[in-house]
Amino acid sequence: MALYARITGWGMSVPEKVLTNADLSNMVDTTDEWIRSVTGIKERRIASSEETTASMATEAALQALEVAQLHPDEIDLIVVSTSSPDYLFPATACLVQDRLGAMHAGAFDLMAACTGFIFALNLASQAIRSGSIKSAVVIGAETFSRLVNWKDRNTCILFGDGAGAFVLQASQEPAGVLSAVMRSDGSGSDLLSLPAGGSRNPASLASVTNGQHYIHMNGREVFRFASRVMVQATHEAVTAAHLTLDDIQLIIPHQANQRIIESAVRGLDVPLERCMINLDRYGNTGAASIPIAACEAVQQSRLKPGDKVVLVGFGAGLTWGAAVVEWSGLIPTKAKIRPTQVRLFAHLRSFLRRLLRHVEGWIWGRS
Ligand code: UT7
Repeated sequence: MALYARITGWGMSVPEKVLTNADLSNMVDTTDEWIRSVTGIKERRIASSEETTASMATEAALQALEVAQLHPDEIDLIVVSTSSPDYLFPATACLVQDRLGAMHAGAFDLMAACTGFIFALNLASQAIRSGSIKSAVVIGAETFSRLVNWKDRNTCILFGDGAGAFVLQASQEPAGVLSAVMRSDGSGSDLLSLPAGGSRNPASLASVTNGQHYIHMNGREVFRFASRVMVQATHEAVTAAHLTLDDIQLIIPHQANQRIIESAVRGLDVPLERCMINLDRYGNTGAASIPIAACEAVQQSRLKPGDKVVLVGFGAGLTWGAAVVEWSGLIPTKAKIRPTQVRLFAHLRSFLRRLLRHVEGWIWGRS
């Protein structure tokens, strides 16, 4: 019997601190009017010194698990899609696994920039559909505020911090990812990058002085690329699902720029109202933007069980992709998940494991 990967939980976490366009106009040579008219962004969220990609990813995942009423012990796979991980390694997903106390989960990061959530969702869904796992938590999370140059008005106005998560569970009813398109073109890798800090250009005094640890972007070229591929990828994914655009209730695009979304919508010949847009309040949150927008679409009753939705994105790499998803909703269960308890048990378990490792090390050292 065919298996499907039903989306049974969703959650989001954004920092409390709001940075408005007016605030930015006191930091760089820009205006609220310019930012609003050129990007559609009014404000974005900025992580506090205690918040990181892993902490926001964990909170979004906890919320999603609470919606799904799925216990962390039952998670088989955790994928975090991010371009702003806590560390180059270990994977941010492993930090999330520890904080959730997901003892039976494999965890890894997937980097495909702002398209990453679509790629991760598709891969996790395929793993469930193949029968190799039963459940997965897929997260998009970014702390771009730590990677932008707050003196560069071309980039610092665009980005924000946050995380969004989906829980996927095996189901025999048709639902979840119906089709997906994943594409890349590395010839455009220089258009949007963080040049230093990797093995090609490790951190040095020169790399820091030259500002190579900040996001560098050719905005105009990315804009042209994005407007083109959003239309293409949407058509390809809808056709692959044996549907037409008339069958699609909602389009959730990567939230980068209102003008890119409007251009895509014109190219697709669908009304703008069929598109979820929340970038005015969060800016571009990278891999987190699609799951955050999906959570808000559910809150606003714009996404209901049975709806077919297109998720479509683009980003550094270059990467782009789209997925057609049948929104399904919860699998009834008697389980009761309390995030406070989950946090506490995970913390305790992590502490005991560290202690055990310490004691083992001490015993081995003596023998
Ligand atoms: O997840 C993917 C991430 N990246 C993107 O999605 C970026 C896609 N690109 C864009 O969204 C747009 O290209 C931007 C919003 C980045 C820029 O819009 P644009 O219409 O392409 O503007 P531009 O870069 O061509 O700049 C136009 C003018 C320039 O002045 P001059 O040379 O014409 O005198 C810029 O210096 O606007 C100036 N400018 C600004 N002015 C006020 C650039 N940034 C600002 C600013 N405030 N913040």
